[in-house]
Parts: sequence; C-alpha cells; structure tokens
Amino acid sequence: MKQIEKIGIVGSGTMGAGIAQLMIQYGYTVIIYDIDLETVDRAKAAIESRLDRLVQKNRASAQEIKEMKENLQTTADLSELHDCQLIIEAAPENIEIKRSIFRTLEEVCFKDTILATNTSSLSITEISGQIQTPKRVAGFHFFNPAPVMPLVEVVRGLKTSSETVETLVEFAKKIRKSPVVCKDTPGFIVNRVARPFYGEALKIMNDQVADVKQIDRIMKMAGNFKMGPFELQDLIGIDVNFAVTKSVHNSFYGEPRFRPHYLQERMVQAGSLGRKTKGGFFSYDT
Ligand SMILES: NC(=O)c1ccc[n+]([C@@H]2O[C@H](COP(=O)([O-])OP(=O)(O)OC[C@H]3O[C@@H](n4cnc5c(N)ncnc54)[C@H](O)[C@@H]3O)[C@@H](O)[C@H]2O)c1
Repeated sequence: MKQIEKIGIVGSGTMGAGIAQLMIQYGYTVIIYDIDLETVDRAKAAIESRLDRLVQKNRASAQEIKEMKENLQTTADLSELHDCQLIIEAAPENIEIKRSIFRTLEEVCFKDTILATNTSSLSITEISGQIQTPKRVAGFHFFNPAPVMPLVEVVRGLKTSSETVETLVEFAKKIRKSPVVCKDTPGFIVNRVARPFYGEALKIMNDQVADVKQIDRIMKMAGNFKMGPFELQDLIGIDVNFAVTKSVHNSFYGEPRFRPHYLQERMVQAGSLGRKTKGGFFSYDT
C-alpha cells in the first residue's frame, strides 16, 4: 500500500479548501493550487479562520492549530505538486478543464502518484482518457462540507487499478471517512439519487404549488432531511449543481428524469450562485 505524506489539491474553491482543511487536520502536508495566487491565498485565509474557530470552541489547542497552518502551502504553479503522493483535483465540473489538468499532472508528477478527482458526475474513464497511466486515476468524491461529511465515493474508472482503489479506501479510513467503492457511472451513487430531489423541487416551485421556504421546511419536517433542496443548492453552489445536472442528463443520453431546469441557468446567468455569492434561493447578507 502506498505511503501518503504529502497531498496536492488542485482548485481552492468550496471543495478544494474543505478537503485541504480536512487533510491538515489529520497531520498531512498539503499544497493547494489555483489559477492565481490571490485566489489560493484567499482560500488559505478562509481555512485559517475556520481553524481559529476550533480554538474558540475548545475543539483544538492553539499549538495544534499553529502546526496545522504550518502544514498548508499555496501555489499557482502546478509543477510544485511534483513530490506529492496523492493529488486530489477539485477544479470546475468541466471535462476539458479536468482533462487538461490531468495531462499536466502526468508530466510533472512522479510516475506512481495517485491522481484522484473530486468530480461529482463526470466519467473517470474520460478524465483519464488522454494520459499514459490511467491505472492511477480514480474518483475520490467528498461531500460538502468535506471536513464534516462522513461519506466518500471511491470511483473505479475502466482502467483504474485495484491498487489505486485499495490505497484510496485505506486512506479514506485513516481520515475517518466511510468509503464506498462505485462504478464509473454518471453521478455515481449520491448525485444520481439526488438529481430528482432538486429537479422536482424546482418544478414544484415553478408550478406555484409551494414556495422555496415551504418546500425546504416540509422536506426537513416530513422527510427528516438535514437541509431542504433549495438550502442545499445554495450550499453546493447553483453553478456547480447545474453543471452536475447537465452532465448526468447528457451522460444518460438526454434521459428526461435528469433534465435540468431553466431556472438553474437563469440563476447562474444572474450570478446568484448561493452562499458563495451571498445570495441564491435565500439571502446571506448578514
Ligand atoms: N460544491 C459541492 O458541494 C461539491 C461537492 C462534491 C463535489 N464537488 C465537485 O468538486 C469540484 C469543485 O467544485 P467546487 O464547488 O469546489 O467549485 P468552486 O467553483 O467553488 O471552485 C472551483 C475552483 O477551481 C478553480 N479553477 C478554475 N479553473 C481552474 C483550473 N484550470 N485549474 C485549477 N483550478 C481551477 C477556481 O478558481 C475555483 O477556486 C467539481 O468537480 C464539483 O462537481 C462539488
């Protein structure tokens, strides 16, 4: 089994930052990349502020947090991830962006570095399709917020080796996650099950059967869901959720059950992406 000490994270948005935080909390050295230093340093500051809150809540000592912070590096140069044993890509849900990142990673990293993607829905086989060593590529799909949510889907592409899958499963257990190994199918398990949760909620709202607050409240009261479909879309990012819906719909050759709703597109066009823009289906001004 491969020994993992240093982890590279590609993309420092909602998921990249959450995964980086999780890894430094477990004592790993992490280097996080984004397209410019300003973006990645903003993510670092957000992670540090979340860590400081753990001291205020007496869930970690100031010394522990200091050590965690020292284990977090940032870069805007992908080649600086060359000495990582594991890389987790958390860039936008776009096949061309992801394929290009994997082509570069193959050039700059050790031959046996595990190259994982946090994609929610795209094909692992397609993401790794243009590189020489697809056996070391797998899905490693965390949920939001990554430091908190217990599940991680380990997705086996058609050419992923058993060793890669086993290493990720063992690693997930070390960071106290519950791994589930899945086949490389659109949306894997959770995001496929979840599509109608958002899609039907949008249709119900659009048909004026109930409004967003009512729908969320009913799902929490009757279904015992922790979050309603609108609150959850705001947390995920309406742009991210829309990209995932389009990807699952396309990958199932236009299966009507997974059809996106035009309102998702309108919200993206308006820049109302949810919590990250302080407004989506709900407002987060304060
Ligand atoms: N948001 C969620 O709840 C959630 C949950 C699980 C998985 N995911 C998946 O994780 C991935 C990232 O989602 P997110 O919500 O963190 O997105 P996000 O929009 O919050 O962050 C994406 C980051 O990638 C950066 N980026 C843009 N182009 C890049 C490039 N060429 N190379 C590297 N980085 C680049 C952006 O600057 C940004 O910081 C997606 O594949 C998404 O489907 C998201």
